[in-house]
Amino acid sequence: MSSNSKIRSSFSGSLGFVLAAAGSAVGLGNLWRFPYLAAKYGGGIFLLVYIILAITFGFTLMITEIAIGRKTRLSPMEAFGSLNKKWDWLGKLATLVPVLILPYYCLIGGWVTKYAATMTVGKVSESAGDDYFTGFISQTGEPIIWFLVFATITAVVIFLGVSKGIEKFSKILMPALFVLTVALTIYVLTREGAGAGVAYYLKPDFSKLSIKTILAALGQLFFSMSLAMGIMVTYGSYVKAEDHIEKSTRRIEIFDTLIAFLAGLMIVPAVFAYSGGDETALGKGPSLMFITLPKVFNEMKFGSVVGAAFFLLVLFAALTSSVSVMEAIVAGIDDKFKIGRKKATVICYLYMIVIGVLCSLGFGALSNVTIFNLSILDFLDFVSNSVLMPIVGMMTCILVGFVLKPDLIISEVELNGPFKMKKFYAVMVKWIAPICIFAILISSVLETLGVISY
Ligand code: PHE
Repeated sequence: MSSNSKIRSSFSGSLGFVLAAAGSAVGLGNLWRFPYLAAKYGGGIFLLVYIILAITFGFTLMITEIAIGRKTRLSPMEAFGSLNKKWDWLGKLATLVPVLILPYYCLIGGWVTKYAATMTVGKVSESAGDDYFTGFISQTGEPIIWFLVFATITAVVIFLGVSKGIEKFSKILMPALFVLTVALTIYVLTREGAGAGVAYYLKPDFSKLSIKTILAALGQLFFSMSLAMGIMVTYGSYVKAEDHIEKSTRRIEIFDTLIAFLAGLMIVPAVFAYSGGDETALGKGPSLMFITLPKVFNEMKFGSVVGAAFFLLVLFAALTSSVSVMEAIVAGIDDKFKIGRKKATVICYLYMIVIGVLCSLGFGALSNVTIFNLSILDFLDFVSNSVLMPIVGMMTCILVGFVLKPDLIISEVELNGPFKMKKFYAVMVKWIAPICIFAILISSVLETLGVISY
């Protein structure tokens, strides 16, 4: 039974929920992070490992979080404590993750907004210049203005509420994003020289399989599916009792993985063809989208149109994700302090601006400020993605597996029909998932501290 008596704003139906949750999941993780990881970690083999992990491990965590949300009808701030008093801290810790992510996610969103605008006005060749990106992010004024634009749009959607804001927004943007992705992929694939790149992306080369590939794929899964940060718990709390959680989870997962797959299919062969398969171009990492890709567009026929469409698409995806990050925080503040959504939104907005501006200055005026040798943005990213998310994910599995017991989740899912994968689910949540997460946590921390290197 719900311990929350006030009427909770909710999604109007299963499709609205699936699209909003997919809107959260599909973001910079799919379009920016997945392609550069796939390019770097051997193409096909990374793709294969990722898909296997998504249907096992991603499925388990996502269904757990959505079921906890619907069962308690609370945001994670309160949900975990209401299931078991001693585990209240876990909900607080989960809420801390979006708090850390929101400012820098919106800053990167601001960069994307700037690129979308630059490409739209046809300045592709300018943005393909060697120092264009670093020159831009190290300024004091311009990146902050773009950040404010992005952050303000996010806040306005939250202000409008769940069904009028988030749901409506996602129902329009998600299908648009899908159509754009498919169209761009087809265009890129029909360019000359794309064939060899497609083979690199699709054919698994087992000699490139290493522990590093698996760990990178596992970390990507968390980020991409918005897991272990209370977001799916919050969204689950808005799901109607009639929805079938297992089916919805499957749909969200398929959508998220499909977009990542297509993003890779569009970007990896393009970079491959452009660079002639050169390893250094493929291994560029985070700057693949901001530095390498504009060069690819610049060389391409109709490159300015393709470039503008591409960055617009990334912008849509980033917005539906930033909205979900902000929603998790606002719902948490509101549940905890009962000050109402609007006030909670304003507080969150002001906080985001202060920290986001600091992150931005971290690339310019404040570039000498580092924490453990990381820039402010990288530090927030590291603490949230590589430390807190694995801890929250692992502890959630332990809580469900051993304290609450998997049956609690299974019976919530079974409220609307059979839970087909329930035996598999129970083993995953109890044993396999927590052990795997523990492995990522240790290895990523050791790597960042420079104890081991891959
Ligand atoms: N899942 C989103 C993506 O793929 C990122 C995200 C991270 C969303 C954190 C919400 C919270 O980009």
